[in-house]
Amino acid sequence: MPESTPMATDLLIHNLAEVATPEGTEPRRGRDQGRVRRMRGAEVLCREGRIAFVGEAEERRRRFGELPDAERLDGRGGTLIPGFVDPHTHLPWAGSREEEFSARLAGKTYQEIAAAGGGILSTVAATRGTSEEDLAANVARRLDHMLACGTTTAEAKSGYGLSRDDELKQLRAIRRAAASHAVDLVPTLLAAHEIPPEHRQDRRRYVDLICEEIVPATAEAGLARFCDVFCEQGVFSAEESRRVLAAGVRHGLAPRLHADEFVDSGGAELAAELAAFSADHLMAVSPAGIEALARAGVTAVLLPGTSFFLMKHRYAPARRLVEAGVPVALATDCNPGSSYTESMPMVVVLAVFELGLSIEESLTAATLNAACSLGLGHEIGTIETAKRADLVLLGAPNLLHLAYHYGVNPVAAVVKGGRVALRAA
Ligand code: NIG
Ligand code: FE
Repeated sequence: MPESTPMATDLLIHNLAEVATPEGTEPRRGRDQGRVRRMRGAEVLCREGRIAFVGEAEERRRRFGELPDAERLDGRGGTLIPGFVDPHTHLPWAGSREEEFSARLAGKTYQEIAAAGGGILSTVAATRGTSEEDLAANVARRLDHMLACGTTTAEAKSGYGLSRDDELKQLRAIRRAAASHAVDLVPTLLAAHEIPPEHRQDRRRYVDLICEEIVPATAEAGLARFCDVFCEQGVFSAEESRRVLAAGVRHGLAPRLHADEFVDSGGAELAAELAAFSADHLMAVSPAGIEALARAGVTAVLLPGTSFFLMKHRYAPARRLVEAGVPVALATDCNPGSSYTESMPMVVVLAVFELGLSIEESLTAATLNAACSLGLGHEIGTIETAKRADLVLLGAPNLLHLAYHYGVNPVAAVVKGGRVALRAA
C-alpha cells in the first residue's frame, strides 16, 4: 500500500546518474568533512516543499506508488547535489568600482586605494545616496545570478551605510528583495565594517553609536539575525569588536566576524571566546587562532574568491584548518571591492585548486557546513528526508565534474522548496 496519497505539490526527480550529498545536521570536521554519500541511479521525491524520499525507483514505487500526478523533473543523466548555501555576502550596495579594479591591475594595492579614500568608503557614499527600492533592485539582480549558479540560501550583510538610517535601509532592502525571490536571505548587521568619515576624529563615538543605537534599532525592527564586525588592523580592534558583538548578543543578534583577513588581529581567538557562528576570511590566522577555533567548534568560512580577486597569492590555510578539526565552509564574499562574484561553483573551483580541499570536502563546505554556520543545519544543506527540498541538478555525470569541468556554469536546474525554480535550456 502506498504510504500516502499523491499530492499536487509532489515533485519527482528521476533519471539521475548520481545523488551526492553530505549527511547530518551538524558541521562536518576533520576526516568527516570529506565524507560524502554518492548514490548511483537514485530518485528524489519532494513533497510539500521537503524531501520525502531518496533511493531506488523500485522502493519509491512500493512506498509511494506510481505518482501519476506528480510533477517530474528529468535529470537527463545529471548529478543532484544540495542547493549551495553562501554564508558571507555584502549584497546591498550601489555603484561599482571597476576603476579601482583597473588601478589594482596596474599595481596599486587594495589598502593603498582605501587609504586614498576609495575602497569601502566610496561604496558607502554611493549606497547612502541610493533609495531602499533601488538597493532592493540591485540585490534582486545579484540574486538572479546566484540562483543561476545554484545558490538557494545566502547570508547578506549591511555595512555600506555606517549610520543608523543607512544601515537599516540596507537591511530593509535585503528583506524586500528576498520577499519576491526564490533565494532565501539571512540578514546580518555589519555596521562595524569601517569608521565613517564623520567619525574619523572620534572612533569611540562610532563604536558607542553602533552599540547604543544601531544594534538596538536593528533588533527592535527584527531586521537581522547576526551581528558581524571587520576585526582587522586599521579597522576595528579586537577590543572594539568584542564590544560590538557583545551588544549584538545582548539584543539577540548572534556573532560572526571578519577575522584575520590581512593581518593576525586576534580575530579567530575572539570568535572562539564568543562561540561565534563563524570566523571568516582567516588568510592570516595564527596557529594559536586555529587551535582556538578547533577547541570552540567555530566554523571557518573561507573566501578564496577574495584572495584570487585581490591577487594576493595567499590563501587561508584550509588544510591546516581541516586537519586541526575546524569545520570549514565556503562563501563568495560577493562585494564590489574585493570579490565581485555570485558564483559558488567558481568558489568551489578555487577551493579545490588553491585551498587544496578535495571536491568532496568542498561540497560539504559549500552546503552543510555553510548551512550550519547560519544556524540552519537542521533545515538545509543535505539531501535527506525531512530537510527542505533545495536542490541543484548538475548537467554532469558525477560530482567530480564540479571542479573538473571548470569555467562553465554546471547548473542545469535548481529546485527551491520542492518547486523547479530554474531550468537551463
Ligand atoms: O569582506 N573585508 C571587508 N569587507 C569586504 C570588502 C568590502 C569592499 O571592499 O567593499 C570583504 O572583503
Ligand atoms: Fe566580507
